[in-house]
Amino acid sequence: MKPRVLLTHPLIKEAMDYLSSQTELELGTSGDFLPPSELAEKIKDKEGLLCFLSDTIDRELIEKAPFLRAISNCAVGTNNIDLKLARNRGITVTNTPDILTESTADLTLALILATTRRLIEADDFCRQGQFKGWKIDLFLGQGLPGKTLGIIGLGQIGQAVARKAQAFGLKIIYYNRHRLSPEKEMNLKAEYRHLDSLLAEADIISIHASLNPESYHLIAKDKLALIKKSAVVINVARGAIVDEKALAEALKTGRIWAAGFDVYEHEPRIEPELLSLKNVVLLPHIGSATYETRLKMSFMAVNNLIEALAGKTPANLVKDS
Ligand code: DGY
Repeated sequence: MKPRVLLTHPLIKEAMDYLSSQTELELGTSGDFLPPSELAEKIKDKEGLLCFLSDTIDRELIEKAPFLRAISNCAVGTNNIDLKLARNRGITVTNTPDILTESTADLTLALILATTRRLIEADDFCRQGQFKGWKIDLFLGQGLPGKTLGIIGLGQIGQAVARKAQAFGLKIIYYNRHRLSPEKEMNLKAEYRHLDSLLAEADIISIHASLNPESYHLIAKDKLALIKKSAVVINVARGAIVDEKALAEALKTGRIWAAGFDVYEHEPRIEPELLSLKNVVLLPHIGSATYETRLKMSFMAVNNLIEALAGKTPANLVKDS
């Protein structure tokens, strides 16, 4: 008998078709993400769950799923899942690491360029019919060569950003919970700094840490006070690492120069103050959104789930689950 599986939202079609051929599949919805009450109703007889970072898989939901044996998250981050409870219940949890490294790093560079060269403002200017001819001071931005990029969180994605950023002439400094080996630092041409020193020294600060109790609101008012007035802050990791209200205030008062966000603390809600500011570029969590990467993520999430439901150890078991 095929295992009963709930897929909360569609995957890329080829992977969804494969999942459907291997399981007794129910699709939660093709529209907006389901509210918790509807998710709870659909999960109560399921053995497997394939979900996304927009789904909150908390105690309330897991307790409504007595048959649940495996949760496959189609994301590398797993902060949307109560991992401790899943472990206590013997539920296998998997994620989709590594394959989204390059596309997320590329988007980081895109945000760095969009903010420092004011691309969105300039695009808007053209669309509004305001371009009347070349001017020496039209949309002056900041050049990258010789500037310093401070990377917070030098894991896979942070390291890919470091490599790509060097092609733009950026010097790399980093802060990480665990300092890298001297060999790795040398290969990456990345110098370690304590967080406060990094914040004071960097011209561009890019966040690639994972969200955990230690990194929650890591960048709040006190830390923003250390940052250069000309600096740019980029966040493609998890929204809650930055205190968005404090950052909006810093952008509004000119305390910092610009910011680029792909993630928000209360997604899909965006701090209203940010929406009214011109010196921030806002994206709807598209770090990994290339067709190639999303196809790989979809198949990886499907294979993880099928393996876990077959009683095998899936390739991408989340360690702390
Ligand atoms: C993840 O997988 O955690 C990313 O944020 C999705 O792009």
